[in-house]
Amino acid sequence: MNKKTGLFITLEGGEGSGKTTQGNQLVHRLKEMGYPVVWTKEPGGTDIGRSLREVVMSNRHKDMVPETELLIYMADRTQHVKSKILPALRDGKIVISDRYHDSSVAYQHFARGVPMTTLNFLFRELAGGLIPNITFVLDMAPETAIRRIKKRGITDPASLSKFEEEALPFHRKVRHGFLKIAELEPERVKVIPADRPREEVFQQISRHLSALLPSNGENSHESF
Ligand code: TYD
Repeated sequence: MNKKTGLFITLEGGEGSGKTTQGNQLVHRLKEMGYPVVWTKEPGGTDIGRSLREVVMSNRHKDMVPETELLIYMADRTQHVKSKILPALRDGKIVISDRYHDSSVAYQHFARGVPMTTLNFLFRELAGGLIPNITFVLDMAPETAIRRIKKRGITDPASLSKFEEEALPFHRKVRHGFLKIAELEPERVKVIPADRPREEVFQQISRHLSALLPSNGENSHESF
């Protein structure tokens, strides 16, 4: 990474795979090491994105057709890339996003069946086709993930998003999608087994990342 071009890291995986926990830890550690970090997410990394998130994830909209779903995620992504991610990268910052375009490939293409040609076209034309430097897929059997989500203590079904309410076959397709992406792009996409203790997962992420980090963090001589 060059100081002026930044570093773009994404975390991907199914619901309950621990992306947010790992992301928080990563942000904390990188900041400690002196790097300028922007921690963001999709959907909902911008003000406009937060409004779009409410529409696309609401369990009142279970009849939303896959193409509408895709267009909302793409609208969120376009706003996110142009108003937040690119400016931060141009400032030489490390941007870490909890989900990005690979989620559209796994959910809207592999699980919902929207053709890749449609996704590729929209991604390139609208969101500029910005590709992360590195992507971590936190991989876990959906059965385990669902058990984890239930353990979070959500008892009110209305508080579950429409995705969390989807049945197991849907989540299996999503998992297969992420693994397929990693198979096709092994340089960029690293699969991290996520059913291990939190520290072990973090160590694996750190190991891949240390090779990419620039030496401009104030305390960047420190290792993870
Ligand atoms: P979120 O609350 O961020 O879930 P998690 O904590 O599991 O990441 O929910 C985002 C939901 O949106 C998640 O179910 C995946 C889905 N999604 C898509 O279907 N396509 C996309 O392009 C993105 C970014 C997310």
